Amino acid sequence: MEKQVENGDVTQRYWAKQDFSQIPGTFSPSGKCRELLESSQCVLDLGCGARALSAGPGRNARTTVGVDINANALRHLATRDLNVFPVLAEASMLPFRAQTFDAVLIVALMTVVPRYSDVERIVCEVRRVLRPGGALYVGDFLFDPNSPTYRSRYRPEDPQTLYAADEAGRPLYLARHWTEEELFSLTQGMRKESFEVSTASSRSGNKLQGFEAIFRQP
Ligand SMILES: C[S@@+](CC[C@H](N)C(=O)[O-])C[C@H]1O[C@@H](n2cnc3c(N)ncnc32)[C@H](O)[C@@H]1O
Repeated sequence: MEKQVENGDVTQRYWAKQDFSQIPGTFSPSGKCRELLESSQCVLDLGCGARALSAGPGRNARTTVGVDINANALRHLATRDLNVFPVLAEASMLPFRAQTFDAVLIVALMTVVPRYSDVERIVCEVRRVLRPGGALYVGDFLFDPNSPTYRSRYRPEDPQTLYAADEAGRPLYLARHWTEEELFSLTQGMRKESFEVSTASSRSGNKLQGFEAIFRQP
C-alpha cells in the first residue's frame, strides 16, 4: 500500500499551497456532529480549511482551535470573525499538551492523506490530545468497490486512490478513500459510538458513498 501512494508528499505540498477558495468543503455533517459540538467545551478542528465546520451549527465550545497546513486558509478564517483560533501545524505533530480537547473533528482530511502510516500518526496524535472520554468525529468518503465512478476514474491496480495530474501529466495530488475496515483498524483501542454511511459529494460533483463516525477515548 505504501508503494502505491508514493506521491503522498506531493499531495501534502499541494494542499499546503492551495488558495483558500480552492479548498473543497463539500462534506455535510449531520446532527451527530452538531450534538457533539453542543456538548463539547474545547474543540479541535483538524484540517479545518477555510470553512471551519466547528464554528457552525451546534457550536457551544468556549475554545475552538482550527489546525491546518494551509496558511492562506487560516488567514481567511481569521478574517471571518468566527472565534476560531487558527494554528498552522501538521496534524501528526500537534503543538498541544496531552488531554487538552473534549472533541476532535476530522472532516475530509483522511481522504487527502493518502499514506496509511501518515493517517496512523494523525490518529495517534488525536488520541494524545483528547481527554479521557473525549470524542473523535470523522466525516469522509468511504471506498465503495461497486461505484461506477471509481471504475471509470481510478486506476484498476489501485481503485481506492484518485491520481490527479496537471495538463502536462505531472502529479498534482492523490485522494484516497478508505474502507470501513481500515477506519476501524486505525481507531483500534477507541470505543465505536456510532458509524453511519451517507452520501458525499466529491470535488468534481460526483455523488459517492460517505460516512460519519464517532469514536470515544477510553
Ligand atoms: C478537503 S479539505 C477539508 C477542509 C474542511 N475540513 C472542510 O470540510 O471544509 C482538507 C484540508 O486538510 C488540510 N490538510 C491536509 N493535510 C493536512 C495535514 N497533514 N495536517 C493538517 N491539515 C492538513 C488541507 O490543507 C485542507 O484544508
